[in-house]
Amino acid sequence: MKVTVVGAGFVGMTCAQRLAEQEVAEEVVLIDVIEGRPQGIALDINQAAAVEGYQARVVGTNDSADTNGSDLFIMTAGMPRKPGMDRSDLLEINGKIINTVADYIKAGSPNAKVIVVSNPLDTMVYLMAARLGFEKHNVVGMAGVLDSARMAYFFADANGGGVKDVRCMVLGGHGDSMVPMPQFSTIDGVSVGALFAESDIDAINTRTQHGGAEIVNLLKTGSAYYAPSAAAVAMAKSILRDEHRLLPCAAWLEGQYGIKDIYLGVPCVLGKNGVERIAELELDESGMAKLNASADAIRQDLETLREKGLLA
Ligand code: 2OP
Repeated sequence: MKVTVVGAGFVGMTCAQRLAEQEVAEEVVLIDVIEGRPQGIALDINQAAAVEGYQARVVGTNDSADTNGSDLFIMTAGMPRKPGMDRSDLLEINGKIINTVADYIKAGSPNAKVIVVSNPLDTMVYLMAARLGFEKHNVVGMAGVLDSARMAYFFADANGGGVKDVRCMVLGGHGDSMVPMPQFSTIDGVSVGALFAESDIDAINTRTQHGGAEIVNLLKTGSAYYAPSAAAVAMAKSILRDEHRLLPCAAWLEGQYGIKDIYLGVPCVLGKNGVERIAELELDESGMAKLNASADAIRQDLETLREKGLLA
């Protein structure tokens, strides 16, 4: 297996580290436009292998030819948000980067699966898929795994600590319009509705929606990377090891939830064929209204991309 991580920022470098440590692929390519940075990170991770004992090797490069023949790409390159910025502020600058990367993926790795992490996520995964022209199930966005992990952590914390048995679900876009789903969130099978007051659940929903911004504001420069990289690598493993995990991901909708022709966060089965199935949860009127509002926010961003000439 060969996996390429595009972008040697914090998310990309922690993805490369996790992929190597967990031996998800024998060869992990870390590519970035900054000379020396991916090479230095690769050398450091490879030297850590002598302590940790993993066999995978990381290749740091600035040359897209080194990514040729990859089975899977994790696309992390792009500008992170600065405090006060919305993910949509990143549309233009990150859109150009997506198009450049899509071109070399298409040329050198025409059979690859692609996981997009760059923000604004739902728009960038759309742009990546459009530029690649691959079948849509081979391109997927990382958002729900991260957002639901944040939600799970908040419920675990409220419950006194243990996170192992907490399972949460977040649908919709990876932005302020995301839709936390406490009705599909459980601790060891027990609905959180049976365990917490409505006001506590509401507070956790809100904190989840702003989970990324909370970290951006604390860090001052840069944004989260440990949980985002863990989420992206979990998706990569489910695809490469054909694990068939049901994970919330930004997937191409063709009428599911009454929505079509956009990428939106929904529960998906991820296996060797990428997004193999989309689970359609039964949503009440308010859940559907929130999901539609989230879809509208994404369509608006896509329109902006078209206006800027980045999307045909
Ligand atoms: C986050 O939510 C960076 O969008 C990413 O932390």
